[in-house]
Amino acid sequence: MNQKFTVNSFRQRKAKGQKIAMLTAYDYSTARLLDEAGIDVLLVGDSLGMVVQGNENTLPVTVEEMIYHGKAVKKGTKNAFVLVDMPFLSYHVSIEDAVRNAGRIIKETGADAVKIEGGDAVIAAVSAIINAQIPVVGHLGLTPQSVNVFGGFKVQGKNSEQAQKIIDQAKRLEQAGVCSIVLECVPWELSRVITDTLTIPTIGIGAGKYCDGQVLVVNDMLGMSAHFAPKFVKRFADMDAIVKDAVENYIREVNAEDFPTEQHSFASNNETYYHVKTSSAY
Ligand code: KIV
Repeated sequence: MNQKFTVNSFRQRKAKGQKIAMLTAYDYSTARLLDEAGIDVLLVGDSLGMVVQGNENTLPVTVEEMIYHGKAVKKGTKNAFVLVDMPFLSYHVSIEDAVRNAGRIIKETGADAVKIEGGDAVIAAVSAIINAQIPVVGHLGLTPQSVNVFGGFKVQGKNSEQAQKIIDQAKRLEQAGVCSIVLECVPWELSRVITDTLTIPTIGIGAGKYCDGQVLVVNDMLGMSAHFAPKFVKRFADMDAIVKDAVENYIREVNAEDFPTEQHSFASNNETYYHVKTSSAY
């Protein structure tokens, strides 16, 4: 039987050299499936703004929407650690605002921690949220909420100056007390240095194999986003094809009156029921 993954499990896993497997989830049914399959961490990512809502980026996502999806994921989860993203502008305006929003997310979803994108600019907010007894996961490298500042979804930390900045920020986030750091789209050499430097685990997405764990957007790894294929995504299933095939079969059977059969229909034990109903209805 799987054990509950807690905030302590992050460091324990790193100390034992055991990898951490994280996937995003945005709803009850997916959360239940991934949890039953034994996933360690479910991330209610603000990537839902793109994969669920169809936006170009994550910027439009609100705290209310994160709470809505966080609640659903939590209900489908038994053992996984539930981590909810703090969306764009929910921790930038003031420290008070950041703590209040993090508190709402935890109180209203029952999640285990929040994730915050950024380094030095958010350290004060991260510390204040941790002081409010809320575990925080950091996120460095390609932080999608900064897409307009980066000028697109681009690999970060490619030159030594940028790389040093990310290393320093990772150290400061660790000092501030985050329990783990997501490293997104950085060269594997950089994530290796950060992973070797920190005592908390790194979770990579497009950051190579030396991270202490990996995370993917569930729709991408299940092959439910045929038109989106970044280099770092591996498709572990072809759900696009499976779902299309099932829906085409359904349409064919409905048209051919092969579905529903008696097996999928209910019969009354009162024969006059149908007579009375149909005659009064017409
Ligand atoms: O929002 C998200 O899904 C994320 C992952 C890509 C790490 O932050």
